[in-house]
Amino acid sequence: MEYKPHTIGVLTSGGDAPGMNAALRAVTRAAISNDIKVKAIYRGYKGLIDGEVKEFTTQDVSGIIPRGGTIIKSARCPEFTTAEGRKQAYETLVREQIDALIVIGGDGTFTGARIFAQEFNIPVIGIPATIDNDLWGTDATIGYDTSLSTIMECIDKLRDTATSHERVFLVEVMGRDAGWIALHSAIAGGADVCLIPEIPYDIEKVREKIEARYTNRRGFCNIVIAEGAKPIGGEVVGKASTEVGYQHIRLGGVAEKLAADLKNIGVEHDIRYTLLGHLQRGGSPTASDRILASRMGAAAVDALLEGQRNVMVGLKNNEIVYIPFTKAIKDDKPLDKDTVRAQEILAS
Ligand code: F6P
Repeated sequence: MEYKPHTIGVLTSGGDAPGMNAALRAVTRAAISNDIKVKAIYRGYKGLIDGEVKEFTTQDVSGIIPRGGTIIKSARCPEFTTAEGRKQAYETLVREQIDALIVIGGDGTFTGARIFAQEFNIPVIGIPATIDNDLWGTDATIGYDTSLSTIMECIDKLRDTATSHERVFLVEVMGRDAGWIALHSAIAGGADVCLIPEIPYDIEKVREKIEARYTNRRGFCNIVIAEGAKPIGGEVVGKASTEVGYQHIRLGGVAEKLAADLKNIGVEHDIRYTLLGHLQRGGSPTASDRILASRMGAAAVDALLEGQRNVMVGLKNNEIVYIPFTKAIKDDKPLDKDTVRAQEILAS
């Protein structure tokens, strides 16, 4: 079924990710080249509710491909989880004559999009942009590759000081529910131990691993730990956020706690921990993220023209695919067992 929207609204929402600007640029240029107007909605769903909208020309997205973050801002929006908030958002669409939406973000963004699309019968297409890489149906999300490179560089730098001072270093990375970032950065950075949310860790095994590194005269140990990692039978450390529609464990605390626990069970080596925090989300996107974002942005416009609705653009085996929001959000994207095993073997 073919369909041609009059005006596409585009927004970025949730945690920013390098490459969001490249996706915005691609959506804008692809739409305009098909004679469709584009209106940028500032601050995600918050701007949709408040009517913060501006028509974009190709000039508005000029020069933004190398820039991290998002020029149209991002926000978490508890109001959008209420029927009243979504009604106000819809009124903005009517007022602005926007008859299709493209939302750039992660699972929270698509959860809101799915409900909104159903309530008001408006076509919505999602573009996956999150450093977490935790969306089912796509091999990669925009921002993931850049984030990995940033973390890898930090691990490399920490190794220099770890070897010089013969210390144990704990590097806490993002990933409250998914260990993609931790696992892949641990492999790329050649870390010695990797602790992820999916596999609760045994602190005794961590201790043994550390000791082995010193008996084998390696003389230092680099450990990557995801913010959502927890010991067997233990709780995730950190403060739970109760923001409506966005529940997560605040960053920080996991590496600090592990350092204290290791001391408590008798590890005598000098231990330091580093929290990479939001550094992992910044920076100019890698070539791979720029290309992914550009392809997905153009594909999102194609999807609308083909009459698709309520789907996320994905990339499978280097081909564009469209995944219903329900699947992308609900189904877990499991880590590949071989990769988990490879990390363990290579670190031994
Ligand atoms: O971008 C996704 C994510 O990085 C998670 O891994 C992390 O828990 C969360 O965002 C932190 O987001 P913020 O502190 O910006 O709310």
